[in-house]
Amino acid sequence: MCGIVGFIGNKNAKEVILNGLSRLEYRGYDSAGLSLFNSRYRVFDVFKDEGRVQKLIDSTKESQFSNIGIGHTRWATHGKVNKENSHPHYSQTRRFIIVHNGVIENYQQLKDQYLKNSSFVSETDTEVIAQLIETFSQTLNVETAITTTLKLLHGSYALLILDSNDPEKIYAAKYKSPLIIGKGDAGITIASDLMALVGYSTDYHALDDKTFIVARPDNIRLFNLNNESLDFHFKPIELDDSDTTKGEYAHFMMKEVHEQPSVVRRILTNYFDKDASLIKPEIIDQIKSSDRIFILAAGTSMHAGLIGKQMIEKMSSIPVEVHIASEFAYHQPLLSKKPFFILVTQSGETADLRACLVNIKDQNYPILTITNVPTSTLAREASYALELFAGPEIAVASTKAYVAQVTVLSLLAYELSSKNIDIKKELSIAATSIENFLASENIREHVRNLLTRRNCFFIGRGLDYFVGLEAALKLKEISYIQTEGFAAGELKHGTIALIEDKTPVIAIISDPKINGNTRSNLKEVQARGASTLIISTRDLAYPDDDVILDPVHPLLTPLITVVPTQLIAYYAALERSYDIDKPRNLAKSVTVE
Ligand code: AGP
Repeated sequence: MCGIVGFIGNKNAKEVILNGLSRLEYRGYDSAGLSLFNSRYRVFDVFKDEGRVQKLIDSTKESQFSNIGIGHTRWATHGKVNKENSHPHYSQTRRFIIVHNGVIENYQQLKDQYLKNSSFVSETDTEVIAQLIETFSQTLNVETAITTTLKLLHGSYALLILDSNDPEKIYAAKYKSPLIIGKGDAGITIASDLMALVGYSTDYHALDDKTFIVARPDNIRLFNLNNESLDFHFKPIELDDSDTTKGEYAHFMMKEVHEQPSVVRRILTNYFDKDASLIKPEIIDQIKSSDRIFILAAGTSMHAGLIGKQMIEKMSSIPVEVHIASEFAYHQPLLSKKPFFILVTQSGETADLRACLVNIKDQNYPILTITNVPTSTLAREASYALELFAGPEIAVASTKAYVAQVTVLSLLAYELSSKNIDIKKELSIAATSIENFLASENIREHVRNLLTRRNCFFIGRGLDYFVGLEAALKLKEISYIQTEGFAAGELKHGTIALIEDKTPVIAIISDPKINGNTRSNLKEVQARGASTLIISTRDLAYPDDDVILDPVHPLLTPLITVVPTQLIAYYAALERSYDIDKPRNLAKSVTVE
């Protein structure tokens, strides 16, 4: 996913755009660029290059005041990471300048059909959009040239467009990729994420698909693709600077790990009015009338879904299947007669998951999206949505969103059950258990001596195994150590061949039924030279276990056992001086399939 920011108003556009791009850089950070109006030469200057936003800040220090501009941070989809493929892109005569988040699937066909005589400087699909607008503007007015272009595009787009012939306007259009309009005393800010608006806008409107706007310093108009005027629905922005800064922490990831206790408590506050659940009864009734639940997600969210399966099945006896979104989208398994779908997603913009949503909606099945972004595509296009209330998660490695997903799934399981536990009390105990661990953790010392090899294993059984999968992803994605989450009992059926002197094996033990079994598996790897670390709950701990956690309800153990594994990943990356919040090759939300 890329970051997009545009501004038009009575402030220096460069300031608004660079601040906004810095806040959105977590979404994609291969390259950065911006375009500002140069009133002296009456043209839009373009500054862009591969690399981070700081490089762009340094290269635009001398630029003149401009009250209009657009900017972009890129996570490469089409074309290499280089200056030519960075945004903004422009049309052949440089009349139109655009930035784009999304993927145009038919850009080659459009190039062949409409742009045979055009010359291109990049390998991107975005440049084709700019050239199409220029081509159509030779016979149509600009707004119609834009809508004519938009109607030809297959795929996804969030677009900001400048016209050098009319430097008092920004055009913006949206289909499948998020785009939000902010208004405030400073002017109009348009961005792919609410966080870029903080400090410059007081109210926001999330653009719907197949709509576009024309923004001037003093007014803004909204249209559909037939150029028919539509009304805005502005709402107050409820974020503030504390949501978008690291505060006392060195990294957003550590801040977000430490926010987890308050996230669990905030979810309880938002989902209960005293002891009455605020989850819509309609959702519960719809699920109860289904014969099977399908949880679809990607990455960390899929790992939270695995926990959700256990909780829902054990608390309500409704069968649950969990599927990887990118697999389900094109290899749909046999469904039951009355399935209910739950999409779990922090960003609400994951393209693999949206591909599933489109298929499921075509079959008229009910969909609940559980997400951290209520304005997101997957929240708005599902039958129902439940919010995570985790606050913006900026570190690419998801932590508090995972804990929030497991917490909300536990509330859903509780509402589907005969309610024979005090879920509020049990979740409060879990929040306190996280807090107690964080207050006295010494994970860094363990990591320094343990992770001395190129690979690592997390092992466990049942819920501990599923947490091991999440632990492995966290360690991989920020320390680049090849890590596997493995069912402890399965290791001896082949993979134990990889265990050699000092291979790190980290065991997670929170279930009394399998305490002995997992410890036997540990002996098997220790006998072959492995270096081990044991994470256990106090009720099951042996004196020389390395990390001992306060026990919680058996179905909620992932909320506490995941936390030391998050810190193992954090300290491993810190020891290696890697970019913890923006790991290589990744983006916060993957809006391409
Ligand atoms: C998690 O640490 C990763 N950044 C990634 O696996 C992420 O969970 C996945 O891309 C799904 O994103 P979503 O929750 O926004 O759909």
